[in-house]
Amino acid sequence: MCGIVAYIGEEQAFPIVLKGLKRLEYRGYDSAGIALINKEGLLNYKHKGKVSELEKHTDKKNIDGTIGIGHTRWATHGLPNDVNAHPHLSGNENIALIHNGIIENYDTLKEGLIARGHTFKSETDTEVLVHLVEDIQEHEKVSTAEAVRLALNNVIGAYAIVVMSKDNPNQLIAARKSSPLVVGIGKEGDFYLASDATPIVEYTNEVVYLEDEEIAIVERNKGLRLYNIQNQEKTPYIQELEMQLEALEKGGYEHFMLKEIHEQPRSIKDCFRGRLNVNKGWVGLGGIKDYEQQLATAKRIIFVACGTSWHAALVGEYLFEDLTRIPVEVEYASEFRYRNPIIGEGDIVIAISQSGETADTLAALELAKAKGATILGICNVVGSSISRITHAGSYTHAGPEIGVASTKAFTAQVTVLTIMALAIARKKGTLNEAKFRRIITELELIPEKVAKVLESSDYIESISEIYKDAANALYLGRGNSFPVALEGALKLKEISYIHAEGYPAAEMKHGPIALIDEAMPVFVIATKGQSYEKVVSNIQEVKARKGKVIAIVTEGDKQVKAMADHVIEIPDTDEHLVPLLATIPFQLLSYYIAVMRGCNVDQPRNLAKSVTVE
Ligand code: AGP
Ligand code: GLU
Repeated sequence: MCGIVAYIGEEQAFPIVLKGLKRLEYRGYDSAGIALINKEGLLNYKHKGKVSELEKHTDKKNIDGTIGIGHTRWATHGLPNDVNAHPHLSGNENIALIHNGIIENYDTLKEGLIARGHTFKSETDTEVLVHLVEDIQEHEKVSTAEAVRLALNNVIGAYAIVVMSKDNPNQLIAARKSSPLVVGIGKEGDFYLASDATPIVEYTNEVVYLEDEEIAIVERNKGLRLYNIQNQEKTPYIQELEMQLEALEKGGYEHFMLKEIHEQPRSIKDCFRGRLNVNKGWVGLGGIKDYEQQLATAKRIIFVACGTSWHAALVGEYLFEDLTRIPVEVEYASEFRYRNPIIGEGDIVIAISQSGETADTLAALELAKAKGATILGICNVVGSSISRITHAGSYTHAGPEIGVASTKAFTAQVTVLTIMALAIARKKGTLNEAKFRRIITELELIPEKVAKVLESSDYIESISEIYKDAANALYLGRGNSFPVALEGALKLKEISYIHAEGYPAAEMKHGPIALIDEAMPVFVIATKGQSYEKVVSNIQEVKARKGKVIAIVTEGDKQVKAMADHVIEIPDTDEHLVPLLATIPFQLLSYYIAVMRGCNVDQPRNLAKSVTVE
């Protein structure tokens, strides 16, 4: 992971880079560092912990300079400490480098460099790269940019890097392979480089997304030049950013996560825009229009995703199989890749990813593409790697999600999957008009029903108070509520550090029931629908063992209310759409419990928002 920011121009670089790092902190917060070049030479400040620690550390220090590079780290190689923090310097301390990714052959390279007299300060793979650049520059007598290019030709692995050298304080060199990097073209001939567009948006809306194995050189008075790793010059493709700055702020909420939970009525509506017309009885996704026929005749659809996006894929499985009758498989992207999967003609692989940068998901897609499959994407971040390597796709339009725990991205993914399944089902003729009309009418009402669930926030907060000290928790659901149970458990784990498991409700009796005692909160989705009575029996089984039951029920439910310790009511809706409502109370519960436990909700320990390493 890691966040990268760099600036060159007329302005002071330090405040711009620092602010950019704060925006990118969701990508990693093990350490932060900024290097600058000014009259004193190359200055390198780095510190363990958050960007705010670096800010304290640099107070009253010389931070002058109009060229700078900064990094916020999610450690892969070496402890999260000051020494391992980026930027890393060459042995002669002339070159500074920041890196996002993993240099897989760093060991071999390091051995060679040690043999040639290099000494290393850190345990990182990154430091090896900057020494390699230095070594090549010294031996080949080439420019830093050329040394970077030659060095990258020797590297196996993933990287987004920015390099600057004391010898040329007018130039930044950047390159990428598998990790993202964006160049922002400022109004006054200044340039911004970053892992994503969030640090850039307040300065310019003109950006160039680097492609794999591209090297960008930005230079005062010379502008931006782009090369491939074989040294052929390329024409930069300038794109316009659509992101709004306000979307990156907390907007009065205490945490991004809470803001994002409350944004869901709007984000789901945004996701409908131009895709749902109840009056005309129509749904469609412009982005995959050309693939609708292929989808309708697909022999099999394989979803690849990780984490929360994988849970959305599981909801997609229920929707697609029920509505379109196409067999669906849901794969962890990381497992899919290493299993030599069987992909045949007529198979379609769909990746689901909020960031569009998850390395495991990207690798799975690349494999599927190499095997000749049609690959589609459902991404939130516009212009992200996954959205660019897929044949086609649909954006979720949820707006930037900053909180590490995914909330509004999940409901937007499920919304896109619902629309996709409905569109294909109509095309295939597997869904009759009356049922189709009923579902889309209900779908359009989802945003206001989500808003209604959010009105129970205070009540959910009071339940959170009761269970905040639990050591474990179980989440149970059946059918399309099973992925909601998994997602509820993941939310609780990742932000409050309470051990939680999601299970299909009926599976409980095959093992987890042994865990139930009076200290165990069991969160159950028991909404009206085909498995309601069965879930009621599962609740009885929990109560018989003195477990505490917190049930999500359909408004007006009496049966579960009589048994459960607490019920949280959600509005009635079509059964296919229940996940969009049932997930909201779980998001709020995790949020409140984490806050009450004093946890860092937006930046939970050990995690990062986009996992761009395998
Ligand atoms: C969700 O709360 C997690 N932080 C995580 O599981 C996430 O969903 C996963 O890393 C996948 O990310 P993506 O959607 O950006 O690909
Ligand atoms: N491998 C580098 C390190 O551990 C960069 C990590 C990353 O991009 O996540 O410092």
